[in-house]
Amino acid sequence: MNATSNRGMWGSRLGFVLAASGSAVGLGNIWKFPYITGEYGGGAFVLIYLFCILLVGLPIMYAELLMGKVTQKDPVGAFKYLQGTNSSWQIVGWMGVISAFVILSFYSVVAGWSMAFVARSAVGAINYDMGVEAVKGLFTALYEDPFEQIFWHLMFMIMVVGIVSGGVKKGIERWSEILMPGLILLLLVLMGFAMTLEGFREGVRFMFSADFSQVTPPAVLEALGHSFFTLSLGMGAMITYGSYLPEDANIPRGGMWIVILDTGIALLAGLIIFPIVFTFDLESGAGPGLIFSTLPVAFAQLPAGGILSAAFFVLLGFAALSSAISLLEVAVAFFHDELGWDRRLAAVGLGAVVFLLGIPSAAYGQFFDFMDNLSTNYLLPLGGLGVSVYAGWVMDREDMNGAFGGKLGDNVMRIWLLIIKFVTPFLVLLVFLNKIGVIKV
Ligand code: TRP
Repeated sequence: MNATSNRGMWGSRLGFVLAASGSAVGLGNIWKFPYITGEYGGGAFVLIYLFCILLVGLPIMYAELLMGKVTQKDPVGAFKYLQGTNSSWQIVGWMGVISAFVILSFYSVVAGWSMAFVARSAVGAINYDMGVEAVKGLFTALYEDPFEQIFWHLMFMIMVVGIVSGGVKKGIERWSEILMPGLILLLLVLMGFAMTLEGFREGVRFMFSADFSQVTPPAVLEALGHSFFTLSLGMGAMITYGSYLPEDANIPRGGMWIVILDTGIALLAGLIIFPIVFTFDLESGAGPGLIFSTLPVAFAQLPAGGILSAAFFVLLGFAALSSAISLLEVAVAFFHDELGWDRRLAAVGLGAVVFLLGIPSAAYGQFFDFMDNLSTNYLLPLGGLGVSVYAGWVMDREDMNGAFGGKLGDNVMRIWLLIIKFVTPFLVLLVFLNKIGVIKV
């Protein structure tokens, strides 16, 4: 037992990978990735996104896990521990705590949509003899009803608070171990169905044939921002999760698995959604409602589609839950570790703040877009920039050495150091400055 063991630890290595993938895999993969891919025109966007995952996401994943493992602290505490209590590096950690509130507030609204669709499926509102128009109307009606959205947003936040207040191991890990495999299984079944559709080829072509005339600075920034969002990076979530890692954990391998799972699931979601879009002549650029107005169309074509639909939205809700948990956990770990709040009190109090902050997102689409844009395109890239500059240029090499782990540790670490030093921060800076118009590429 060491001095920090009362903070909790992951029960096993697999438990850690599943819990961290539970954070990474969520609405970002299944809801957001298809809808932004649709809005930005498909293939070229997907290619840029994959590029960002490899050269920005993966290196920062390693950096965050490493910082957490070395310090055993929340994001603010981690910077204080490494750089001293007065260091301005802790601003990066502070920004992360703020991002957690911003992201969770609208994230919970979307998770609420998923719950609303569970309810609709369960009462038979999505069924075999429904026309395409009627199915599309289901989402429109929900989107135009702030009260129903707020109700589900509240239900969702109550679940998040309930789990987070239970503590790391009992709460987060146990759930992730059951639900993640279930989600993957159902996605594979749906993929099988998508392959039988007449629009399958066109869907695949949409996702993988790159038309570079579609590439604009906002598209590149969105792809970059989304690589942070989908991997839960840029705000210290992975610092926090890394802080519960045991001594012998293998960061390169664990981190690689998280990234592979996360990216695979996003691509799988796209390969389900776009064939449906093209088969039934739907709108690929439909925006945030995309999955809610396309998947039910497919469900309504299937016998027992109502049950399948309910199962899908239940699992999507759970994927959102395991991600939302990690968002609230960052804030709770900070208030617990730095300010000495009781975990339970922190979870309830902060959850209430997030609920209030989410109300305008449920009521006004523009506020929702603002919060999404603020976090994905500004807070996360800036946070990620901070982490990569810190890990590449400032962090003590001795601190890193033992903690990185893995048999191939030395070589992998050398390559990683080169990338995090010379590639990652410059790419992020370039994209960011280009978007805000300081430089033109
Ligand atoms: N990665 C999650 C998703 O794709 C969302 C998420 C959870 C997140 N924790 C995060 C995003 C921390 C940014 C930072 O659904």
